Amino acid sequence: MLIWLVSTISPAVAAQGEHGRRAGAELQVLAGDIRTLLREEARADKNAVVLKGLVDRIRGGLSAADILLRLADQEADRAPVSYIEPLQKAHEYADQQHWNHLLALLASLSKQFPLRQPFFPDSAELRESAHKLHISYCAGCHDTPAQGVERPAYNLHQQASSITVIEFYARMLVGVRGDRVTGIDNPLSDADIAGLIYFYRSEEAAIDKN
Ligand code: HEC
Repeated sequence: MLIWLVSTISPAVAAQGEHGRRAGAELQVLAGDIRTLLREEARADKNAVVLKGLVDRIRGGLSAADILLRLADQEADRAPVSYIEPLQKAHEYADQQHWNHLLALLASLSKQFPLRQPFFPDSAELRESAHKLHISYCAGCHDTPAQGVERPAYNLHQQASSITVIEFYARMLVGVRGDRVTGIDNPLSDADIAGLIYFYRSEEAAIDKN
């Protein structure tokens, strides 16, 4: 059993550096935000404030992408490349609201900057500590989200159940900010994140919200 676990952690997974991971995660979140925007726009009761929040997030993500991608290249010892041109194109697509073109462009960048989720075996212990973590540090804001604000704190169980695991993992990397003490770094360990993902995607989390 132990041998099997060790052999499933490939060197590529172990080798993903912080910048590579950050770049991969930001690209996944950007694409996810565009998919959310398209879904929200199609709703009969669409909310202008929420739509504006999403477009602002997408624009902010595109503006930050150049530096993130270059840092990831540098970290992986790849030759320096400028991403200004594809990102200018990306901003144009956003201006023209050609969201599907933008999704395609992001998908091709994601191939260059994949996000790999470290593997932790699911266990009752991992979920239990995630549950406690959630109650202590996350539930206050996320379990009863304010509606109709530009940047809502979503119900994490609902969010985890409605998007792909990799997109949710990316959101856990990008979206969880530290407090004043830890600055802007994500305070959660890889094991915390894995446990929270198992927890949020589980029935226990759904029952907890009732
Ligand atoms: C002080 C309130 C607060 C606390 C505490 C908090 N969050 Fe959040 N969280 C937010 C808000 C508000 C957003 C939306 C921010 C934005 O869109 O820029 C957010 C965003 C997120 C996102 C990204 C969602 C997305 O759509 O991309 C994730 C994931 C997340 N939080 C998880 C957590 C977890 C896990 C914890 C506990 C360890 C936690 N948060 C604690 C308020 C909070």
